[in-house]
Amino acid sequence: MERRRWLKVAILICLFALSGSRELKVRHKYHLPAYNHTLATILVEYASAVYMSDSTELFTWTCSRCDDLTKGFEIIELIVDVQNCLQAFVGVAKDLNAIVIAFRGTQERSIQNWVEDMYWKQLDLNYPGMPDAMVHHGFYYAYHNTTVRPGVINAVKRAKKLYGNFTVMVTGHSMGGAMASFCGLDLALINEARDVQVMTFGQPRIGNAAFASYYSQLVPNTIRVTNEHDIVPHLPPYYYYFPQKTYHHFPREVWLYNIGLGSLVYTVEKVCDSSGEDPSCSRSVTGNSIIDHLVYYGVKLGGEPVGTCRIVMDPGVAGYATEDLGGNIILSRDPSTSFLKLNTEPGLQHANN
Ligand SMILES: *[C@@H]1O[C@H](CO)[C@@H](O)[C@H](O)[C@H]1NC(C)=O
Ligand SMILES: *[C@@H]1O[C@H](CO)[C@@H](O)[C@H](O)[C@H]1NC(C)=O
Ligand SMILES: *[C@@H]1O[C@H](CO)[C@@H](O)[C@H](O)[C@H]1NC(C)=O
Repeated sequence: MERRRWLKVAILICLFALSGSRELKVRHKYHLPAYNHTLATILVEYASAVYMSDSTELFTWTCSRCDDLTKGFEIIELIVDVQNCLQAFVGVAKDLNAIVIAFRGTQERSIQNWVEDMYWKQLDLNYPGMPDAMVHHGFYYAYHNTTVRPGVINAVKRAKKLYGNFTVMVTGHSMGGAMASFCGLDLALINEARDVQVMTFGQPRIGNAAFASYYSQLVPNTIRVTNEHDIVPHLPPYYYYFPQKTYHHFPREVWLYNIGLGSLVYTVEKVCDSSGEDPSCSRSVTGNSIIDHLVYYGVKLGGEPVGTCRIVMDPGVAGYATEDLGGNIILSRDPSTSFLKLNTEPGLQHANN
């Protein structure tokens, strides 16, 4: 087993050494999204909150991360896919005039193992209806073949009845960023959102150059934030010698890095080129840090210490829940009714099992 791992590493090193100068440019004739720092600092808080495992506190937006710049958010659907250990929510942020959708990243006990696995993910699925566009089936199915997609689409439909002119903003961190991208693309393709905006934090690559090209035409309003030496945006690897075979990020990256010394350190937010693989952004450094993966804009991302997929739910919200045969739970409420009633119910104490 150990020997096999070393062999794999040796092969990788050879591939990197072979890497030359051939770059495949993603074509673009459309306007490029403007990077909005304020919006990024708000959306990262949604991407952080979706990791919380207490469904009651999330659903009522009273969790410890459900505060600060996201105050006043109203969840209308919380999806807890226990079978696949996935979580997502859809809600209304009136201060942004937006419907916000957030996806949780991996809850694996060891993020190290999850990251190591990503070296070997194959481009093994043709994105339906897009000739030559290849993606990784695991990321694709996490969104498309679980309770997540029907839950999200249904909630967006319901929210649009009341807030028809709101923008749809999709966000997520790590694998949640991969799911957010597939969701944004899906919403654009099925015409459920006219001006869908996607902003992800530390997401891995999810498809090849052909996929990136389709993606950036269909969801031009996408910002992919990367941070310092965060390893995840470097994975699965990109080999510029094999432009047709390799994974390829879509634009537009915004790379955060620190400059300065001692007490004079400040963060630069570099808006990268439209290739998706700007060599002067995160690719200019080695992706070797998991710590840099877990904090963006000073906001902690990632799960609580022991990543589990249990459901923590109070009887006070059980009335909003439906459970399918697989034990997956959807908490859903009518966006036109107020939450005040629920908040004053006596049953709403924190239930920890
Ligand atoms: C950036 O986003 C914030 C929050 O949505 C908004 O208030 C502000 O007007 C935006 N700035 C620009 C320049 O679009
Ligand atoms: C899709 O999900 C179903 C049920 O979870 C599973 O049986 C099936 O194998 C999945 N399909 C693929 C291609 O992964
Ligand atoms: C959406 O429409 C409502 C009423 O129809 C209006 O009050 C609100 O300002 C509109 N918002 C945007 C972003 O256009």
